[in-house]
Amino acid sequence: MKRRTFVLGAGAFTGMGIVTASERWQSKQTSVSAIPATRNFTVSGKATLRQRAATKGLLYGAALQSKQLETDSVFSRAIAQECNIIVPEFELKWRTVRPSPSVYHFAPADKLLSFAHAHNMKTRGHTLVWHEDLPSWVDSALNSLNAKQILTDHISTVVKHYAGKMHSWDVVNEAIEPKDGRSDGLRNSPWLTMLGPEYIDLAFRVAAESDPKAVLTYNDFGMDYDTPFGRKKRMLVLNLLHQLKANGTPIHALGIQAHLHRDNPNFNPDSFSTFLQEVADLGLKIMITELDLTEKKLPTDTTLRDRTIAAAYEDYLTVALSQPAVIAVLTWGLSDRYTWLSTAEPRTDGAPVRPLPLDAQMKRKLAWNAIARSLDKTTQRSMIP
Ligand code: G3I
Repeated sequence: MKRRTFVLGAGAFTGMGIVTASERWQSKQTSVSAIPATRNFTVSGKATLRQRAATKGLLYGAALQSKQLETDSVFSRAIAQECNIIVPEFELKWRTVRPSPSVYHFAPADKLLSFAHAHNMKTRGHTLVWHEDLPSWVDSALNSLNAKQILTDHISTVVKHYAGKMHSWDVVNEAIEPKDGRSDGLRNSPWLTMLGPEYIDLAFRVAAESDPKAVLTYNDFGMDYDTPFGRKKRMLVLNLLHQLKANGTPIHALGIQAHLHRDNPNFNPDSFSTFLQEVADLGLKIMITELDLTEKKLPTDTTLRDRTIAAAYEDYLTVALSQPAVIAVLTWGLSDRYTWLSTAEPRTDGAPVRPLPLDAQMKRKLAWNAIARSLDKTTQRSMIP
């Protein structure tokens, strides 16, 4: 994508003509007032995000929890209306799904899959191998002698339970941590300590044997921005993906979590587009898996905040969806009523955070418009993956 040709949908008009997202990035306009008043987020038609995504052969969805479905009918209706794919926010993580070595607790996630099936939605599995949210028995029971069997049993049991029903699995989550100082960038997780780097290939192979139909994904964060950390993370993730592909590992997609910050202060459309192309050149699909935005540093004014968040989403998704290998966009939550950011990244002014497409009353916000516009602008994919 040539620098000069990247122009936002509605463009950002100034007296000097169209200001491209690249030029805005070049000018390093980081103040939230950088969103020109003339930039609008109008959406044509009444189609839902689910319908707009399906029209283009894409998936749009959100993370949610089974208890939210059980207790909140307004929210459940909004999910059914707006999403054609959902992902359990925590019900398939080890601490919930395997409370003890020999006990698997599928009921909470089963409820989510039943809901998805009833509403003709797909489901993502998140996540088979992660260093967080592990049950306490893992610390005491896992060692270098039994780790391979424990991991193999887990992946095989969980993936076979949902075989044929899961669109895709985050097989390995967040395995790259540049700060841990390894030349391969791998995170010093219990899995690496016990099994060495081969744990990643093992996880994908067991998952592929357990469900040959699922799209097997490596999922990670921190690849969004042109910062020293972002550039290093992109390079290390690409190296990992290269190695896995060269090794014949059955990996099919990269999941980019896309937990954005403030007003995308370091978002460089050109370098992000180049990174996406490098992933696609490996023959991998790409999913935006956990889109949201930490807005605690944005001004209190909700109109300004909503506009800034919408602009960040539309700038980001316009580039992401310009890459044909991108097959899905999921936000990490659908409504501000339920977002991990309320507790993990609260605003210093105490105001409720507003990162998601729907507000806490399930009303669409400009963030919804931004996603709708991004879906409307992108090219048609051959079929829903
Ligand atoms: O629902 C139970 C509640 O019944 C229980 O009393 C309570 C105390 O144990 O726990 C509650 O479950 C919590 C769950 O969120 C639902 O709120 C878990 O403790 C808590 O660990 C869990 O946190 C999740 C976190 O991952 C760790 O699994 C967040 O919801 C979830 O948004 C967050 O998501 C991660 C992705 O998996 C990976 N990418 C980053 C993203 C944000 O951190």
